[in-house]
Amino acid sequence: MARVVVLGAGLAGSAFCVPLADQGHEVRLVGTHVDGPIIDALASSGFHPRLKVALPPGVRALPHDRLGEALSGEVALVVIAVSTAGVPWAAEQLAAAAAAAGRRAPPVLMVTKGLAAEDGEIRVLPAVVEDALRRADVASSGVGGIGGPCLAMELAARRETAAVIAHPDPAILDRLIELIGAPYYHVRPSGDVIGVEACAALKNLVVMPVGAVLGQLELAGEAANGARMHNAAAAVFSQALGELEHLVRALGGRVETVLGLAGAGDLFVTCQGGRNGRMGRLLGRGLTYRAAKAQHMADETVEGAELALAVGPTLARWWSSGRLDPDTIPLTRALIDAICHDHPFAIPWSQLHWPP
Ligand SMILES: NC(=O)c1ccc[n+]([C@@H]2O[C@H](COP(=O)([O-])OP(=O)(O)OC[C@H]3O[C@@H](n4cnc5c(N)ncnc54)[C@H](O)[C@@H]3O)[C@@H](O)[C@H]2O)c1
Repeated sequence: MARVVVLGAGLAGSAFCVPLADQGHEVRLVGTHVDGPIIDALASSGFHPRLKVALPPGVRALPHDRLGEALSGEVALVVIAVSTAGVPWAAEQLAAAAAAAGRRAPPVLMVTKGLAAEDGEIRVLPAVVEDALRRADVASSGVGGIGGPCLAMELAARRETAAVIAHPDPAILDRLIELIGAPYYHVRPSGDVIGVEACAALKNLVVMPVGAVLGQLELAGEAANGARMHNAAAAVFSQALGELEHLVRALGGRVETVLGLAGAGDLFVTCQGGRNGRMGRLLGRGLTYRAAKAQHMADETVEGAELALAVGPTLARWWSSGRLDPDTIPLTRALIDAICHDHPFAIPWSQLHWPP
């Protein structure tokens, strides 16, 4: 039995507590400053109001000002599960708590998905956390990530899935695999932290063109013989996966990661629904990004669109300078152009190249 601290009591962080607690671990779920009502509900009834399940008794919910207490003693793992925008905050909280205790930071895994653009480079979120630890002069035990198909509601309901756990230290990775796996949560190890993290973030972007096909179907309706547009969606899916490979390789990740759980697996589940696919559908119906957001998704975070705005300008410099071959990513270019410049999005069929 080990002690695990999960930072962020939203859907993903709280769901991740379920397999950990089912394996007998002592889980401390620390809310952020906006998770107060969830932490109160968990503390009084054990019931998570958004996941709509009771978390196992082994999960102890704590407010954000008790992170230092949560991190006391021997902690085997810290999981960061806040939204992308909250990662610098979470990293600083973790670094400050470890510095105050005068200890090495425990191993960290990111459930949060995203990328950070800075000075013409694009970095995965574990690098952002490493930076915060370095700034606070705290020794790191390595920061990795979790990828693969994992809808929080399904994990919380103990429905079967498989995940890839990536960490830079092979010995720690072995321990984490032992610690995290559960009968319904099948985990596989990877040393490709960049690839897993890049897939996790970028699949939210490349799923939007697949969603756009469904938006076109909504406009066009079924053909007279009842035909829909499954073929078109599948053709765009194949192109999207190929572009994911080019993007992930440009960031330093490996091809096999793209073809595995973190890439193809997560892209498939993301195509089944969710906010990024929905934004894609709205774009496919001819709305610009700003109109779609304002009229239909005003209060929702669309992570793929946020990612396009965050890393799009850097990627555009990469393909203009030849650092990234523009011919390999026509869907991505069209999408980034549409979102960053608020242009209508159209699938550039004549430029798609589908690898054999
Ligand atoms: N929902 C899923 O099925 C799922 C599965 C795997 C990974 N993820 C990833 O996990 C991350 C969180 O997603 P979620 O679905 O749990 O979202 P959520 O909205 O349910 O929870 C967001 C969490 O981030 C915190 N937060 C929000 N804004 C913040 C800020 N400015 N500063 C600090 N903390 C802030 C919230 O308090 C909450 O703990 C995302 O990157 C998402 O892609 C989600």
